[in-house]
Amino acid sequence: MRSAAILAPIAMFAANLAHGAMPAEQVYKEVCSVCHATGLQKAPKFGDKAASAPLIKEGQVTLTADGWVGEGGMPPRGGKPDLSLEEFASAVAFMARSGGARWKDPDATMLERIRAAEKKRIERLKAKNKKPAG
Ligand code: HEC
Repeated sequence: MRSAAILAPIAMFAANLAHGAMPAEQVYKEVCSVCHATGLQKAPKFGDKAASAPLIKEGQVTLTADGWVGEGGMPPRGGKPDLSLEEFASAVAFMARSGGARWKDPDATMLERIRAAEKKRIERLKAKNKKPAG
């Protein structure tokens, strides 16, 4: 007997594969761990609850958007320009969970909110870089 309940997750998994989205743990290992496993350039360390607490407090939308755009020693998109927002956001959630957060991988609504925060952050950065005339 075919059951939609069984087929749906399989279809989603296949769609992810076709889409080429990397699972969060793989993104973390391949892209983020270089700095976040070691604390290179003062990157908050994976699993360090004390260092993660103030970041987690910023909230999933803000923290993901800030990291995505880049901040201090944190390169935009973790230094991997072909990373999708979904992959990046999942890796952020994965890292936050290691630091004690209960964040889920982003759904469509969450991704939209992150996109909106990204726009605002870019506008703020542009405004800051603009020198007052005169
Ligand atoms: C080249 C080193 C490097 C790589 C690679 C890197 N990070 Fe970072 N990351 C940093 C550093 C350094 C900071 C601290 C930035 C600061 O606050 O000045 C940071 C901070 C962050 C923050 C907190 C941003 C904030 O608001 O302070 C998040 C979230 C983050 N990284 C996520 C990721 C994710 C996800 C990846 C992989 C896709 C990644 N990073 C890859 C170095 C790196």
